[in-house]
Amino acid sequence: MHLDETMIQVNQLNKSFTNSGYSEQILKDISFNMTRGEIISILGKSGCGKSTLLKILCGFEKPDSGTVILNGDVVERPSRQCVMLFQNYGLMPWRSVLKNVELGLEDTGIPPERRREKAIHYLNLVGLDDKLDLFPHQLSGGMQQRVAIARALVMQPEVILMDEPFAALDTFTRYHLQNEVLRLQQKEKTTIVLVTHDIDEAIYLSDRVLIMHANPGRIHRELNIDLSKPRDRSHEDFQRYRKIIFEEFHLNQPKPSIEYNI
Ligand SMILES: Nc1ncnc2c1ncn2[C@@H]1O[C@H](COP(=O)(O)OP(=O)(O)O)[C@@H](O)[C@H]1O
Ligand SMILES: [Mg+2]
Repeated sequence: MHLDETMIQVNQLNKSFTNSGYSEQILKDISFNMTRGEIISILGKSGCGKSTLLKILCGFEKPDSGTVILNGDVVERPSRQCVMLFQNYGLMPWRSVLKNVELGLEDTGIPPERRREKAIHYLNLVGLDDKLDLFPHQLSGGMQQRVAIARALVMQPEVILMDEPFAALDTFTRYHLQNEVLRLQQKEKTTIVLVTHDIDEAIYLSDRVLIMHANPGRIHRELNIDLSKPRDRSHEDFQRYRKIIFEEFHLNQPKPSIEYNI
């Protein structure tokens, strides 16, 4: 297995939705490749089609045209090779922490003992092995997202797709979990696609940022982040990337000067 192996090939995806009899193109000519172990961020404003793109990547949604090839096979339906991590954690409130993590291993033929061992191993990695018997409502938001991360990792997927996974968390918890994800990703060599509208998060985590524009959703620019990890958010190189991205979204225009006509 080589690290430069192509893991995902996205070819010319197009997708429209019809709402109230009116068809709207949501994604237009989306193409990109990813190598094994790469982290890319898809950065764009709300409504530009990021979640739709992720759903197509993992086979929950079908494109009108174009293909996604995951590890050599065309994606036609969801598979265990690719798991999704959501903003609202997606935990089952009636299952304990341990049972939530074991969930992904049910129906796999793995014996219950081994399932439990694996779940505990990954809960240990995210620092929650002392919370096995608690229920989701007894945990903070950050802990719940860590359970969701453990549940994704226990399946040992090739690819994890993250849809604004830290958006509901406070800054400190978010920074902490971003570091955890980097640490675990380096250990497991998982390929990650992260959807976010948070510019700092995109620069901090990814090897490459795909900047999407809306109406229709399309990749406007690809930006390689050539900084070694872990990255320093206050370093001038980091600021340089922020500036480039700010310019892409026209966020750094000076305020218009106010003219007083007295
Ligand atoms: N299942 C659907 N049916 C109809 N329209 C949809 C559906 N899913 C998303 N859309 C529309 O597609 C556009 C992009 O949505 P989405 O992919 O969720 O954007 P983002 O994740 O970037 O905020 C929105 O205008 C949304 O209303
Ligand atoms: Mg979304």
